[in-house]
Amino acid sequence: MALIKKKAEDAVLPEVLPTHVGFIMDGNGRWAKKRGLPRSLGHVEGAKNFKKIVDYCKNIGIKYISFYVFSTENWKRPKEEIDGILKLLREYLVDVQAHLGDGVRAVFLGDKSAYPEDIQKAMVKLEKDTAHHTKMTLLLACNYGGRDEIAHSARLIAEKVQSGELKPEDITEKTIADYLYTAGMPDVDLVIRPSGELRLSNYLIWQCAYAEYYFTNVLWPDFSTEELNKALIDYASRGRRFGGV
Ligand code: FPP
Repeated sequence: MALIKKKAEDAVLPEVLPTHVGFIMDGNGRWAKKRGLPRSLGHVEGAKNFKKIVDYCKNIGIKYISFYVFSTENWKRPKEEIDGILKLLREYLVDVQAHLGDGVRAVFLGDKSAYPEDIQKAMVKLEKDTAHHTKMTLLLACNYGGRDEIAHSARLIAEKVQSGELKPEDITEKTIADYLYTAGMPDVDLVIRPSGELRLSNYLIWQCAYAEYYFTNVLWPDFSTEELNKALIDYASRGRRFGGV
């Protein structure tokens, strides 16, 4: 594996980077607990780190990055914690264009309808305003669940069958993928999950079918660009066969 210097960040990285890196931002709560702080402060630090990692990925030239911001299951958390995450999302949506700068397309994965109207509107506007950008695509999984996404795709396909636009025998894997929130986007190449948990937690389960996994004990607020470099170097050493030999 050849390592080269990426000029933008002065980092030594593999020549070939994954096209799509998925981040499961886990460990915010434990980060806060270790410091005797409320969980919501862990999410504040997590959101700061999210911005840093987005900037870095843009600079080193990763084309697609996705983040698990809020799952369909996260609504079970205490109201105070949910409100804290909503506040962070709302604040981010206000200064998102300044953060992303030119060239980044933003897309939300998940059912927006569960969010307050102002947040939904800001999400739709951001998607519309950035739809033509091609440098990098930022996917934000908000009120997202992998099984929920597949069920949603199945419902849309069933409607097409009902209206006669589609025949059951014509439904292929591609048909299902075309009705996912990620329609037209590449599958995940590398999933990174910090905080020591070794599971996918319903994150992009269809799109991760052939992904490589990178787990680390570092908690998300401490997951630095150096940690990301390590993951990218590790990924480059893996032999991906996609079921072949
Ligand atoms: C999981 O860690 C993290 C979440 C459920 C929330 C992630 C959300 C953010 C980092 C805020 C993102 C904001 C923007 C603007 C993108 P956990 O709380 O389950 O950690 P724990 O397992 O240590 O308790």
